[in-house]
Amino acid sequence: MKVSVIGGGPAGLYFSILYKKAWPQAQITVYERNRPDDTFGFGVVFSDQTLETFQNYDLESYRSITENFAYWDDIEIHFKGTVHRIGGNGFCGCSRATLLQLLHQRARQLGVELKFQHEVTDIQGALRDADLVIGADGINSRIRETFAGHFKPSVDLRPNKFTWMGSTRPFDAFTFFFRETKYGIVIVHCYQYEPGRSTWIFETDPETFANFGLDPMDEPGSARLMEELFAEELQGHKLIINRSMWRNFPAIRCERWVYDNCVILGDAKATAHFSIGSGTKLAMEDAIGLYESFRKTGGQNVKAALSHYETTRREEVEKTQHSANVSLVWFEHVKRFWNMNPTRFVFGLMTRSKAITYDNLALRAPEFVEEVDHMVADETRAAGFANVDTKTPVPPMFQPFRLRDMVLPNRVVVSPMCQYSAKDGLPNDWHLVHLGSRAIGGAGLVYTEMTDVSAEARISPGCTGLWNDEQEAAWKRIIDFVHANSAAKICMQLGHAGRKGATKLSWEGDSQPLPEGAWPIVSASPIPYFPNSQVPREMTRADMDRTIADFVAATERAQRAGFDMVELHAAHGYLLASFISPITNKRTDEYGGALENRMRFPLEVFRAMRQVWPKEKPMSVRISATDWIDGGVTGDEAVRISEMFKEAGCDMIDVSTGQTDPESAPIYGRMYQTPFSDQIRNEANIATMAVGAVTTADQVNTIVAAARADLVALARPHLMDPYFTMRAAGWYGASDIHCQPQYLSGRDQLFRNSERERADLTELKLKAKPKPQIDTWKQAAE
Ligand SMILES: Cc1cc2nc3c(=O)[nH]c(=O)nc-3n(C[C@H](O)[C@H](O)[C@H](O)COP(=O)(O)OP(=O)(O)OC[C@H]3O[C@@H](n4cnc5c(N)ncnc54)[C@H](O)[C@@H]3O)c2cc1C
Ligand SMILES: Cc1cc2nc3c(=O)[nH]c(=O)nc-3n(C[C@H](O)[C@H](O)[C@H](O)COP(=O)(O)O)c2cc1C
Repeated sequence: MKVSVIGGGPAGLYFSILYKKAWPQAQITVYERNRPDDTFGFGVVFSDQTLETFQNYDLESYRSITENFAYWDDIEIHFKGTVHRIGGNGFCGCSRATLLQLLHQRARQLGVELKFQHEVTDIQGALRDADLVIGADGINSRIRETFAGHFKPSVDLRPNKFTWMGSTRPFDAFTFFFRETKYGIVIVHCYQYEPGRSTWIFETDPETFANFGLDPMDEPGSARLMEELFAEELQGHKLIINRSMWRNFPAIRCERWVYDNCVILGDAKATAHFSIGSGTKLAMEDAIGLYESFRKTGGQNVKAALSHYETTRREEVEKTQHSANVSLVWFEHVKRFWNMNPTRFVFGLMTRSKAITYDNLALRAPEFVEEVDHMVADETRAAGFANVDTKTPVPPMFQPFRLRDMVLPNRVVVSPMCQYSAKDGLPNDWHLVHLGSRAIGGAGLVYTEMTDVSAEARISPGCTGLWNDEQEAAWKRIIDFVHANSAAKICMQLGHAGRKGATKLSWEGDSQPLPEGAWPIVSASPIPYFPNSQVPREMTRADMDRTIADFVAATERAQRAGFDMVELHAAHGYLLASFISPITNKRTDEYGGALENRMRFPLEVFRAMRQVWPKEKPMSVRISATDWIDGGVTGDEAVRISEMFKEAGCDMIDVSTGQTDPESAPIYGRMYQTPFSDQIRNEANIATMAVGAVTTADQVNTIVAAARADLVALARPHLMDPYFTMRAAGWYGASDIHCQPQYLSGRDQLFRNSERERADLTELKLKAKPKPQIDTWKQAAE
């Protein structure tokens, strides 16, 4: 087999090593345009986990890499005069030049031919001359561009500017400097990669960069400016430049990675932002992935191996890219967090890409998590909760929260969930047991399902309503039970289905039109939800007046029944959402067009409700913070939407997303909607509730402690576990949680068992994570 590898970076070299080791008869040539000792940049970093993978695949190169690496455990964060040092992070650093030389040696030893100063320009020719061509030619890949029509690359040039410099200042931790300079905020990512050498990546937003007044190509000029700004941090050391131009990071993706007998690897096919230090890792793991595909398909069948690689590797690459993108967005929005308490700022930084969480940090850096608990407890006390224990505080999710006069015992919420079990809108025993048991289970706030303001406003014949006395009385029975038997508060979610009305019960066909017995439906514009759905009537002014009156009447009933809070449902493509989204609102009158117009009717409804709802009781609005459709509502617009509701007297935004239209294409993942809550909370300065794929108490604590939301709602997890909050209290030892006397013995047993399990697990985890047997750069230097 004749293999041509174009590009002698980590991806190309590592693949050559693995393939040649397994199939020594293969004839492999690596073409590299640079000289062997030429290299851009300074150091690269790998995590413990990545090193473990290398160990499994090629012990020789692993040994030589780890012998030459600087090792550190801590991350140090300098922010507004504070310094936080967080242990347990396990990283290695090495100069890129050294890494490449070690890989050169190992490749040569195995018989791989390395041709330096050899730029491949005839890509078509290269494909003809070899059985297999590896396109490992980096970020500006010529191969990718030659077959762009096939690979279908997309390049998202991020707004922040960065440059990669070096210095002689030593570090014994991965160090971040966050500094407000006279030009604006500048962030520096630093780490030592060999004795006497460290990487300094400077990053800033486009406005600050413009304020520098620099030519992006002027390397010495920008080094002088950074030396002046970071004189204190440099501690008398100079900056070193090596192709240190200011650039914008290109987030590259490709729809396809294989063309005929050629496959692209590493940066050529996908990039990962330097803030998670994973570019080289991704490149070398691609090489491992490709080698594995050859191994699984017999070693010689190029077509089968490449197709196996393309299908099996994509998910992992996209996961890494996704966390890198979440991380880079955090750095792009650092201004949003600038006025936070430094402890919270640091917690937010550490947990930004979801890989590290509250519990995870408690294992790595217990004293820091204690600091976080104290910070949240102190803030809670400062917010008027004089009885909060600030000496031995409970985890953030168990701190109380206030909206107007409503006080919640903790931050967990049972999200609204249609039960499709009512008849003529009347809640029954199912609703009593469903809501009642979740209130007993310990959540601080329980939402009713979307309850409709008229019979015509219903999604399905099974939806609950609040338009007559019988329904009001049935709700009162449920509220009275919740108030008498739990510490939970209860919120009524009022809505109107709009164009998604008159549909089947969800388990009989979600959003599918009723075959018979359907009632006429209305929407912002006459656009059916599915092609086979009923076409809604475009709302007239008279329809609007009637609907406002229905919402007001239902709000008055909610007050009489005794609800603690009311939420207006303006999300998920229902009536009010259909006005807000440009995808579903095509009106040409004053209710369509610009956001101010699209918000007019939802605000009219909200204001009318607010007028009849008692001043001391809070109101929230659920919105879809993005439609997940090009041309639809975006996070930025959601901030404006939230500000408008806030001005109208809304106390909290319940931040959901999508369901506007069947075209919505959400990017799912753990806590996938939380970034929108974070943006709204910290840009519109209003309390928020996050929801969506939050499944653990650990995630709730992470979200609350980082102030990505004030409350966290869980829907599906509560269906299977009404006692989610009680169990979490047992786990964390939050013994103040309210428990009815009938259940006290069960609670006591839960607390005892949880305490034992937690101790065992902590011990197990600590044992499972021994420090790697690698010298630190300090020891190596000694
Ligand atoms: C500021 C910054 C900081 C970074 N920090 C880190 C970090 O800390 N840790 C980390 O793991 N990664 C880091 N990276 C990412 C890392 O450098 C890359 O992701 C990684 O090197 C990708 O490996 P690769 O083999 O795909 O490509 P490259 O390393 O770019 O190698 C491609 C090679 O192909 C050669 N080449 C290109 N075209 C041709 C041609 N036509 N003919 C012959 N040769 C050709 C090039 O000369 C080059 O040597 C950082 C990147 C940047 C920009
Ligand atoms: C069975 C079910 C019914 C739902 N009904 C409603 C509803 O009535 N009102 C609403 O705003 N959201 C409703 N939702 C959405 C949830 O409140 C929540 O936003 C969503 O399920 C994501 O949270 P999760 O990942 O915790 O399930 C419903 C979800 C489920 C699973």
